[in-house]
Amino acid sequence: MKTLVFATNNLHKLEEVRDILGGSFRIASLKEIGCIDDIPETADTLEGNALQKARYVKDKFGYDCFADDTGLEVEALGGAPGVFSARYAGLGHDSEANMRKLLKELEGKTNRQAQFRTVVALLLEGREYTFEGIVCGTILTERRGTAGFGYDPVFVPEGYAETFAEMGSEEKNRISHRARAVQKLADFLHKR
Ligand code: IMP
Repeated sequence: MKTLVFATNNLHKLEEVRDILGGSFRIASLKEIGCIDDIPETADTLEGNALQKARYVKDKFGYDCFADDTGLEVEALGGAPGVFSARYAGLGHDSEANMRKLLKELEGKTNRQAQFRTVVALLLEGREYTFEGIVCGTILTERRGTAGFGYDPVFVPEGYAETFAEMGSEEKNRISHRARAVQKLADFLHKR
């Protein structure tokens, strides 16, 4: 079975991806290939960061590899926080601070449209590919729910009444931006 490295040590992401791809590929984490580096993510786009991470692993460890990067893109904020979603309230700040800043920036705004967007970059047999997954929705004026992470308590996906933080992880993982991008990756790999 071919080994593909997923450039992450996030166990939730690994589990999600192994569920989708695990039957046909051995998915190895960074830890499993002995990579303990803090891989740079200095690009100014999601695509750039995903490619940067995948190239780093390929160059330094030699494995075919894929990497992901995700951002919350809010229409009334011109696409912010986008690639800066993890550090919207500043370096070292947590999800609470990020959500507080987001709700403050949106105060009084009637357009609450937003989307989560994930880009997966794949380096395979000397070629680079990217796959995108999007889930559209709206930003509430206050938090609801305790599950999930990041901006989940303020994001309601289109066609649903609950926030991501009020849904079970199974349901969220079925419709999420990351699942959609990884499903495209899986379709591509299975067609080869
Ligand atoms: P990453 O590229 O997956 O590390 O995501 C970057 C940032 O986007 C995270 O630190 C979160 O703030 C946010 N984010 C990514 N995915 C989700 C999600 O599924 N729900 C809520 N926030 C997310």
